[in-house]
Amino acid sequence: NLRGVIFDLDGVIADTAVVHHAAWKKLAGEIGIPFDDSVGERLKGVDRRASLDILLEQAARTYSETEKEALASRKNDYYRQQIEGFGPQHLLPGARTAIESVRRAGLKTALASASRNAPLLLEKLGIADLFDYVVDANHIRHAKPDPEIFLAAARGLGLAPSECLGVEDAAAGIASIHSAGMKAVGIGQPQALAGADLLLPDVAAFDISRLTT
Ligand code: G6P
Ligand code: MG
Repeated sequence: NLRGVIFDLDGVIADTAVVHHAAWKKLAGEIGIPFDDSVGERLKGVDRRASLDILLEQAARTYSETEKEALASRKNDYYRQQIEGFGPQHLLPGARTAIESVRRAGLKTALASASRNAPLLLEKLGIADLFDYVVDANHIRHAKPDPEIFLAAARGLGLAPSECLGVEDAAAGIASIHSAGMKAVGIGQPQALAGADLLLPDVAAFDISRLTT
């Protein structure tokens, strides 16, 4: 019996997947590392440091810990420069309606984001009050695809994992939801999200009334 929906943030609710992508691409260009869309797809849902490690798989030399920290924080600076100017217009179309309809249906809502910038983004988008519980990368030890973040969200809602549904745009996120013992709704392209239990082209197509009956 479905009692709660746990949403990912970047690429599901917020139009930020493109911003993360652009920031990594800029960094990759500066240090002479090839960056194509397949690398970009692998970075979705993956936390900052793990994303850098994926990027550096293509590097011609090894980087020290200090260098890696500097690179990760440079990427974050590029990302933050864009996010500073964000407002409610950067919600993906239909996102607010989708979350509100879940609440109106009497279900609980949570956010499970791998981003340390999630609190800032929620504030900029004006949607912090739509969630009964928020878990972001600052609260967990094991990043997606580990189930920790979705399990923590279910616990925060006071629900069993089997009573929750996860909504994700990234392969790492779908894997995290499934390891947590929940059904997964994938938002995006079938080639990237083959494992999802239900695949939707975008969050505007999310219809809670079709999931509860
Ligand atoms: C989300 C995005 C990833 C990003 C990660 C960490 O999961 O999909 O692309 O790398 O958050 O974000 P952060 O803002 O902490 O660097
Ligand atoms: Mg995402």
